[in-house]
Amino acid sequence: MILKYTAPLKGELSVPGDKSISHRSVMFGALSEGLTEVDNFLTGADCLSTISCFRQMGIDIVQEGTHVKIYGKGLHGLKAPGTILDAGNSGTTVRLMSGILAGQPFRSVITGDASIQKRPMKRIMTPLTMMHADISSIRQNGCAPLEIGGGNLQGIHYESPVASAQVKSCVLLAGLYAEGITKVTEPVISRNHSELMLRYFGADVRTEGTTASIVPNPRLIGQKVNVPGDISSAAYFIAAALLVPNSEVLLRNVGINPTRDGMLRVCKAMGADITFVNENRSGAEPCADILIRSSNLKGATIEGEIIPTLIDELPVIAVLGAFAQGTTVIRDAAELKVKESDRIAVMTENLSRIGCDVQATKDGMVIRGGKPLHGAVIDTKKDHRIAMSFAVAALACEGEMDIRDDDCVKISYPDFYKDLHALEQ
Ligand code: S3P
Repeated sequence: MILKYTAPLKGELSVPGDKSISHRSVMFGALSEGLTEVDNFLTGADCLSTISCFRQMGIDIVQEGTHVKIYGKGLHGLKAPGTILDAGNSGTTVRLMSGILAGQPFRSVITGDASIQKRPMKRIMTPLTMMHADISSIRQNGCAPLEIGGGNLQGIHYESPVASAQVKSCVLLAGLYAEGITKVTEPVISRNHSELMLRYFGADVRTEGTTASIVPNPRLIGQKVNVPGDISSAAYFIAAALLVPNSEVLLRNVGINPTRDGMLRVCKAMGADITFVNENRSGAEPCADILIRSSNLKGATIEGEIIPTLIDELPVIAVLGAFAQGTTVIRDAAELKVKESDRIAVMTENLSRIGCDVQATKDGMVIRGGKPLHGAVIDTKKDHRIAMSFAVAALACEGEMDIRDDDCVKISYPDFYKDLHALEQ
């Protein structure tokens, strides 16, 4: 796809529902008794993979656009899948479902696409094995496909070496089926949607500092869930409105959970004109309308505890750094290497192509911003967040951006280009 600047961005937009929360609404709905009704569900390919996995285990799910009904069968109501479970491109599906599968009285195999089959799964295999789950990597390379034989789990206190909501959620979900309490302590707090939503469905989940714990065998009851807009999708429009001169955009109903709002804090530190309007709650999740006006940005250092709260936004933050005056440093973000692509390598390569002075480091990058940048051919490696980040860069560059494999945006934002063009006026 060819993209270039046409006009300032103006107007309002409701970005699609949050990906993490959409996945969890299906998973927890399936494990609850009775109907769970979800509004503003994300219809991206990743969340559809989660729906299809639960259908394979006997759960009736009716999806009409963004409205989804899940007819839950309770904690012990899943049936053995007839075939291999396919998580597509979705790490959340593989890792969270592995925790659930570890508690089932049947064997299952879960895998996904070429990217998923390269992503590290030892991080969940280690704690699940400590809980006495029988889980193995079929190719013995620490990656999917994973074979999981469930049952007889033991509660543990797991000290996770990584701040990862997928690891934490996997262990807590296995904890639903364990003997005794299960606890997870992480080095820095990661997104807490599982804790909030499991509690909303009736589980006894407690948090203290960076430790979350769960009491096994709760009675989960189906609920109504209204999914807030995804701040990780909003991030592209926030960045575009900041970078394209004379823009003013209002994003409606975006989730601003403090374990996810790091990008907003970084933008403000870079000098961004961002205002919250109409702050409210959607179930357990805080949300707001966000008003963004074009701003002159300066570089920032992004490191430490803020990293997990903006981990998926770092590609587009790097784009902001490229256009900002001065130096932007990203560190403590080695996790970027094991996302849908190696995002340190892919971002630095593509930023160099558009003329940016950027250097990869072991756990991030250093960007010397403010040079005039130009369009180039972008190799996205089929990573949705890389494609959307360079679509934003296209609007602030000289010339045309040629984004390869641009349709990978369907993973998290099927209408991304349409929504972006609708704001150009
Ligand atoms: C997610 C957690 C994060 C994030 C991913 C979604 C989740 O991954 O990058 O896009 O829904 O729990 P990690 O837990 O691996 O950091």
